[in-house]
Amino acid sequence: MSEAVEGGAVEGGAVESGAEVAVAERFEELYGTAPEGVWAAPGRVNLIGEHTDYNDGFVMPFALPHTTVAAVSRRTDGVLRLHSSDVDGGVVELALDALAPESDRGWTAYPAGVVWALREAGHAVTGADVHLTSTVPAGAGLSSSAALEVVVALALNDLFGLGLKGWQLARLCQRAENVYVGAPTGIMDQTASACCERGHALFLDTRDLSQKQIPFDLAAEGMQLLVVDTQVKHSHSEGEYGKRRAGCEKGSALLGVDALRDVAYDDLDAALERLGDEEEVRRLVRHVVTENHRVEQVIALLEAGETRAIGPVLVEGHASLRDDFRISCPELDLVVDTAIASGALGARMTGGGFGGSAIVLVESADADTVTKAVEEAFAAAEFTPPRVFVAVPSAGARRAV
Ligand code: GLA
Repeated sequence: MSEAVEGGAVEGGAVESGAEVAVAERFEELYGTAPEGVWAAPGRVNLIGEHTDYNDGFVMPFALPHTTVAAVSRRTDGVLRLHSSDVDGGVVELALDALAPESDRGWTAYPAGVVWALREAGHAVTGADVHLTSTVPAGAGLSSSAALEVVVALALNDLFGLGLKGWQLARLCQRAENVYVGAPTGIMDQTASACCERGHALFLDTRDLSQKQIPFDLAAEGMQLLVVDTQVKHSHSEGEYGKRRAGCEKGSALLGVDALRDVAYDDLDAALERLGDEEEVRRLVRHVVTENHRVEQVIALLEAGETRAIGPVLVEGHASLRDDFRISCPELDLVVDTAIASGALGARMTGGGFGGSAIVLVESADADTVTKAVEEAFAAAEFTPPRVFVAVPSAGARRAV
C-alpha cells in the first residue's frame, strides 16, 4: 500500500504538526536557551530534465512534503555548533576560521560548507548553534543534501539579515556542495528546495536561473505521482556522476559550444555526425539534447491541460537515462517496467541515478494495483522491499517558527 504524504500534513509550517516545537525543545536541551527561530527546507523529486542542469539546460522539479528542519541561534564568537537527531553522536563544534574545503567527509560538511560559502562570499556570519532533524530519506535521490544546505542557508540569511534571494542561496549552497563537500552536482536540487511553491512544479532554466511556476495539481485531475524509493543508496561524491559531467563537457568542447544546452534539438543529427566515432560522448550528448526537448514537451502538454500525455515522455526519458546516459540500475528498471505493465501512465528514474528513486504517474484508481505489482516484482527478484509514497507538490524553504 502506498503511504500518503499529503501537503496538508505540512500546512504552512515545517513538518507534521508540532514537530517544529519538538525541534525547538531539543535545541534548548542541547544548548541551554531557546532557538531564535526554526526553519524548514524540503527534498524534491524531479518530474523531467535529468542531468541537464550542469549543461545549462532545463529541469522541472517539485518540492516534497518531507523537510529538513533546523532550530538555529546566532553566535558572535566564531564558533559553529552542529547537532542532528538523525545521526549518532553529540554536538560537533567547529571554529569558523578553520573551515576548509574537503576537510570533512561526514554530514557536518554540508552545513559547515554553507557557512564557509557565505563567509567566503563576504557575508558577516559570526557563528551559530544549530540543531537539525529531517524527514527527507537520505541517499534516496530526493535531495536530502540540498534540504540540509538550504535550511541552514535560509536560517543564517534571516538571522544575519543578509537579504539574499532564494536563487542566490541556492548558488551558495551549490558552491558549498561542489567545493566544500567535493560533489560536482548542478544547481537543480538547491533551487528546488529554496524556490518551489506548493501545488506547482518549477520550470527552471539553469543557464540564467529564470523560473516559471507551473500549476501541477494531479489530485484534482484524478491522478497521483508515486515515488518509489528502491532503497539502493547512491552517492554523488563517487566517480560516476563526475564522469558523466566530464563527458558532457568533452562533448560541448568538441562541438564548439559553451554548453550542450546550445545544441538545438533539430541539429542533433548533425551534431552526432560531427562527433564521429566518439561513441560514449555521442550517447551523452544525445541524452542531454533529447532530455531538454522532453522538458519543453512536458511543459507544453501541462500548459495545454494534457497531463496524461506526459506519461510516454517520462518513459522515453527513462530509456534515455538507461541506454544513453547509462545511470539506471536493475531496481529502477524493474520499477519502470512493472509500473507500465500494470497500468501506470508513465514512469522513470528521478535524480542522479545509480539507485535512489523512481516516479510513477498513475490514475488515482490504479495506485494500489501498481504499487502492489511493484512490491511483488521486488519480492520475486529478491530485492530489498521498496518504500512507496504519494508525492504532493509542496512548499519550498520557509521560516516555520
Ligand atoms: C543530482 C544533482 C543535480 C542533478 C541531478 C540529475 O540530483 O544534485 O544537480 O544533476 O542529479 O539531474
